[in-house]
Amino acid sequence: MSFSDSVRQRMVEGSWIRRMFEEGNQLKQKLGADKVFDLSIGNPVMDPPPEFYKELQRLAKNPLPGMHRYMENAGYAGARSAVAETLSGEMGLKFRHNNVVMTCGAAGALNVALKAILNPGEEVIVFAPYFLEYGNYIDNHGGVIKVVPTDDSFIPRLDALETAITPKTKAVIVNSPNNPTGVVYSEDLIRGLGRLLGKKQRHFGTKIYLISDEAYRKLIYDGLKYPPVFPHHRQSIVVTSHSKDLALPGERIGYIAVHPECSEHDDLMAALIFCNRILGFVNAPAMMQHLVSKLQNVTVSVADYQKKRDFLYNNLVRMGYSVVKPQGAFYMFPKSPTKDEMEFLNELRQWNVLAVPGNGFGTPGYFRIAYCVEDRTIEGAVAGLEKAAKKFKLC
Ligand SMILES: Cc1ncc(COP(=O)(O)O)c(C=O)c1O
Repeated sequence: MSFSDSVRQRMVEGSWIRRMFEEGNQLKQKLGADKVFDLSIGNPVMDPPPEFYKELQRLAKNPLPGMHRYMENAGYAGARSAVAETLSGEMGLKFRHNNVVMTCGAAGALNVALKAILNPGEEVIVFAPYFLEYGNYIDNHGGVIKVVPTDDSFIPRLDALETAITPKTKAVIVNSPNNPTGVVYSEDLIRGLGRLLGKKQRHFGTKIYLISDEAYRKLIYDGLKYPPVFPHHRQSIVVTSHSKDLALPGERIGYIAVHPECSEHDDLMAALIFCNRILGFVNAPAMMQHLVSKLQNVTVSVADYQKKRDFLYNNLVRMGYSVVKPQGAFYMFPKSPTKDEMEFLNELRQWNVLAVPGNGFGTPGYFRIAYCVEDRTIEGAVAGLEKAAKKFKLC
């Protein structure tokens, strides 16, 4: 074999979203883009907010000397300080620049964090349904994924988590607002999770990191307030990005923030910075660091996303679909009317509607809809979802 067997296998297993995306593109070429209602990929159609373009123009007109050179692998002190200042306001703890590493998106942040903490064979727990790349990222760094179920509302079950934790557990990844369900975890849940991890750490004499993937933290609806993990567990690492809140997924800018009182904090930070370097990222993109340091309090229109959510959710419920109401992100995860969700998705495809099977998130029997698309795409998809609902006698 001329290339890695394990890469070959992972490419086959984990390519649902890409496969649907490519299929969507083929259909669009065949039928015309306006005839295809593609809800398969979380690539926001929204453009970045006006403040982004204003800062971009300001920077272009007033270039800083040396602004395209290498820098410290952790990123510019100014960008790290801007992030730290905002976090101090949001997280109920005082952050400084030396608690923050700028990264190439949340994906870069996750890889850096996992590389820094994992020894071969150590376990990382995730809750199903989960962002499937977690399995690839954990494997990248010699870890072993352990999948724990959630309840009917996609809330992690702490009793199931308790039995899954072993002396080899190095980290638990939580993702709220969640991809693919849109569910936001409550403060009570996070508190319970923190207590359980503390108890297990004492029991096994180990350290268990809580890695909180907050890629959608600012996309939160119904006036909810985001409950931070930091107050509930000292071994907490937040990974996030501006891919979704500033609609900059192609620009690859994000960060890692470490609890200021995490044990061995300085050694962990040094390890994270080293890993940012040796994974080949070297540092987060310089221009984007300059820009986002001025945009920490700016977000795309959350009200627009909430409107899309309401329209889609209300229609799905009216048609008889069983779906948990999402409170954040831009995904929904309805139950498939057929046991094998591919049968249902094939029916949807007859109406040129594309969605991703729950299997792609470790939870068969469901399908994921990404509603970060134009309203007309959602409206066209609703028509197809209605025809499919009738065929499967939901309404
Ligand atoms: C839950 C989750 N984590 C991480 C990422 C990666 O984000 P980024 O594009 O910032 O690397 C995504 C992207 O869709 C995601 O859904």
